[in-house]
Parts: sequence; C-alpha cells; structure tokens
Amino acid sequence: MKAAIRYEYCAPDLLEIARVTLPRLGEDEILVKVKATTVNRTDCGVLTGKPWAIRLFIGLFKPVRPVTGTDFAGIVVDKGNNVDQFEVCDQVYGFYDQGLSSHAEYVAVSTKKAILKKPENVTFEQAAASLEGAHYVFYFLKDLKLNAGDRILINGGTGAIGNAALQFLKHFNVRVTVTCETEFVEVLKSQGAERVIDYLKENFTTINEQFDYVFDAVGKSSFGKCKPLLKPKGIYISSELGKNWQNPFLALISPLMIGKKVKFPVPYSAKRSMTFINKLISNGEFVPLIDRKYRFEDIAEAYRYVQSGQKKGNVVITFD
Ligand SMILES: NC(=O)c1ccc[n+]([C@@H]2O[C@H](COP(=O)([O-])OP(=O)(O)OC[C@H]3O[C@@H](n4cnc5c(N)ncnc54)[C@H](OP(=O)(O)O)[C@@H]3O)[C@@H](O)[C@H]2O)c1
Repeated sequence: MKAAIRYEYCAPDLLEIARVTLPRLGEDEILVKVKATTVNRTDCGVLTGKPWAIRLFIGLFKPVRPVTGTDFAGIVVDKGNNVDQFEVCDQVYGFYDQGLSSHAEYVAVSTKKAILKKPENVTFEQAAASLEGAHYVFYFLKDLKLNAGDRILINGGTGAIGNAALQFLKHFNVRVTVTCETEFVEVLKSQGAERVIDYLKENFTTINEQFDYVFDAVGKSSFGKCKPLLKPKGIYISSELGKNWQNPFLALISPLMIGKKVKFPVPYSAKRSMTFINKLISNGEFVPLIDRKYRFEDIAEAYRYVQSGQKKGNVVITFD
C-alpha cells in the first residue's frame, strides 16, 4: 500500500509517499481502507516533533510510528479474531492524538482505541474533519458550568478548534461573540455567532463588553490582555501554553486567585469526546468546516498549508 512516511522528525519536504507492506492485523484490530483523513495541527507536531514535549509520547529521539496520521474515516476490510463490535464493510472513523499511521491507503487500528461507526448522513470527508479540533474543544469546555444565556468570546472562529467551539456552544444555548477575518464574518454568523468581530478592523481586547468566558482558540492573546473583558468571576481559557508557557502555571494557581481565573484543560480519552461529537454530527448540530482538499499524493503540500496557520477549519486528504 502507499503511505506517507519519514524515519526522523522533519519538515514536510522530507515526508515521502512510499510503498510499504500492509499492516499485520492483531487479534483486537480492524483493517480499514482509508477513504479520508486530515492534516491537522496535531499532525504537524507529530511530523516535526515540536514542541519538544510531544516526543515524550511519540518517541524521544525518532518517531515510533514512521507513518504519519492521527485520524481516518473508511471501510472495514478485515478484522482480528477477537473483534465482535465491527464487521467487514462497516463504515468507521477514529482519532488518536499520538498517531495512528492513518496517512496511508490502509490502517490497522485496535478496537480499544476511539473508533465509532460513521453516521450514515455524514460523508467520509466530514467524518474525518469532525475529530481533531472538536476533540480538544470537548475537553476545553467539559468542566465549565455553562448556562443558557452565558456570554463567551472566542478568539479565532475559523480555526479547527475555534469553529468547532462555536458550533458546540450553540448546543448549550450560549451567546457567542467570535473573531475572524472579513471574508468569514457571514459564515460565522450563519453558524450561530451573535456577534462577529473582524479582527482586521477591530481589536477584540478593547471592546467595551464583558463575558463569562474568553476562549483564545488560536493562542494569540493572554490572560492579562483579556482580563478587562471578563466579568468579575469570569474564566480565561487558551488552546496554547502562552508566550512564556504561563497558561498552565496560571491555571495551577487559579484556585488561589480571587475573582477572574484561568483554566488550562488537558485533553485525554478520545473515546469520551467522540461519543459527544458523534451525537452532534449525527443530528446535524455540528458540521465541520472544510477548507482545502488535497490528493493523498500531495500531502506534503497540505502539511505546508496547515503549518502556515491559515487553514480555515480542516484540511482533508482524499484517496480516490
Ligand atoms: N492545547 C492543545 O491540546 C492543542 C491541541 C491542538 C492544537 N492546539 C493549538 O491551538 C491553536 C489552534 O489550533 P487549530 O487547529 O484550531 O488552528 P488552525 O485551524 O490552524 O487555526 C488557524 C485559524 O486561526 C485564524 N487566526 C489566526 N490568527 C488569528 C487572530 N489573531 N485572530 C483571529 N483568528 C486568527 C486563522 O485565520 P486567518 O488566516 O484569517 O488569520 C485560521 O483560520 C494552535 O495554536 C494549535 O497549536 C492546542
């Protein structure tokens, strides 16, 4: 089969499409013919081994898995002896942030990982695009005590994380103000944003309004800059560590702070997030934003685009 492969942490230019043998199937595994996968920000970390902390999970000196890819949607073509929850021909999708080797024509995945049957009303491309950003959003929002009518400001509504957050928050009837560039103002309004701030025309940190939560989904701001936007007991969340890795530290000392606080949720089991995501894509409450689509052969180009930090939602890789 064809697979995107590298043996060292590297830039996209050194990622090769090579012919490799089909993965050998374990007793608890299914073999899936991949119909769609994505290149996402987690993939960029897995490819390059940066930030360095990621190597603690995917290989200290070189990648444990030479084939890249963290998500897939496809069709089961074979199964191990111990697998009873999936059958050949089932349409499935799955995600694992430490790598699944799914940038390939076939992927063998343990059924202990986060895999679900794909809802029939959702395409393979949508299913693959509904995973990475949404997984993180599930954990960023999970422990907030969201009430209908609460106000939240999302910085970066066109990112995979920010856009999934906007749609998830609609599910909780929360009032969302969101930032993006001019071209996407109407798109985000149509997705349920109450107010859209064009960040090319207005600096969101200077608006004279207050929110229960500020979620910096692109990590371009800071607690200090966003503090005036928070109500007296408001909470700041960021998807990034911060310029000086201050966000986890501030979250740690937050219980000692009076009033405004910082949370830095750490995502874990994708099984939990996928159960929630599956419900929302099945009933149409979450439709992942898809930007460019690339042929599998052009995957290095897809990586370069995602690394630019300019993708809108998700970048999909197709095989046919
Ligand atoms: N904490 C975690 O576990 C975790 C996991 C995954 C990712 N992350 C981090 O979370 C961040 C977001 O990830 P993502 O996948 O959502 O990113 P992404 O899809 O690559 O997001 C980029 C988007 O953000 C927009 N954007 C960039 N600067 C902006 C600004 N100043 N104001 C408003 N919008 C802006 C871009 O639009 P324009 O091109 O129009 O500017 C683009 O649409 C990344 O920094 C990533 O490294 C964290």
